[in-house]
Amino acid sequence: MNATLAREALAVPVLWRPLSDSDIETVAALERAAHVAPWTEGNFRDALAAGYAMQVGVADGAIVAYGVLLFAPGEAQLLNLTVAPEVRRQGIGRALLGRFLADAGARGAEQCFLEVRVSNIPAIQLYAREGFVPVARRKVRAAAGRAGKAGRAPTMRRFEERWQRRRDEGNL
Ligand SMILES: CC(C)(COP(=O)(O)OP(=O)(O)OC[C@H]1O[C@@H](n2cnc3c(N)ncnc32)[C@H](O)[C@@H]1OP(=O)(O)O)[C@@H](O)C(=O)NCCC(=O)NCCS
Repeated sequence: MNATLAREALAVPVLWRPLSDSDIETVAALERAAHVAPWTEGNFRDALAAGYAMQVGVADGAIVAYGVLLFAPGEAQLLNLTVAPEVRRQGIGRALLGRFLADAGARGAEQCFLEVRVSNIPAIQLYAREGFVPVARRKVRAAAGRAGKAGRAPTMRRFEERWQRRRDEGNL
């Protein structure tokens, strides 16, 4: 399979490819519509320049999903995962998460971390179903314009399968 351009077997056919500079304006607009504390265009540009793994999903010529994964020795951190509202609940978020986790595993990551607001039930359900477990909670500063309403965001962690298997076999 072409690693940079693959079609998923989804209700909405999605082509995946790396995010490029020319996608940033569109992705930032989706981001503003989807998040309480959205990344700015500058944040996306910085992430691209830093070499983070960034993917967009395209359906009918339009970007409908994107995500950002950061690699560190032995682990990965999911920094962003977003699906356009009109195509949610059709497996696209799970598909992108699966692609990132497969990539992380192939690059030797043994675990993957992410943070999610405790109020974000759709995302928490998705991560829990894919095997993430909560490992910590931390207070986050309130978003601009919401002074005084500090949210709490749990950090969640997923063991990579082969690590889990070694644990099950008593080798860790
Ligand atoms: C979280 C998000 C990425 C999920 O994307 P999606 O494509 O709608 O998710 P999927 O269709 O792949 O759903 C996979 C599973 O997640 C869970 N899930 C997704 N949306 C859900 C919802 N609204 N309510 C409850 N569970 C939900 C379900 O378990 C679902 O499996 P099922 O449909 O078989 O029951 C999407 O809602 C989104 O972009 N939200 C805004 C941005 C965001 O909060 N990103 C996460 C930041 S940490």
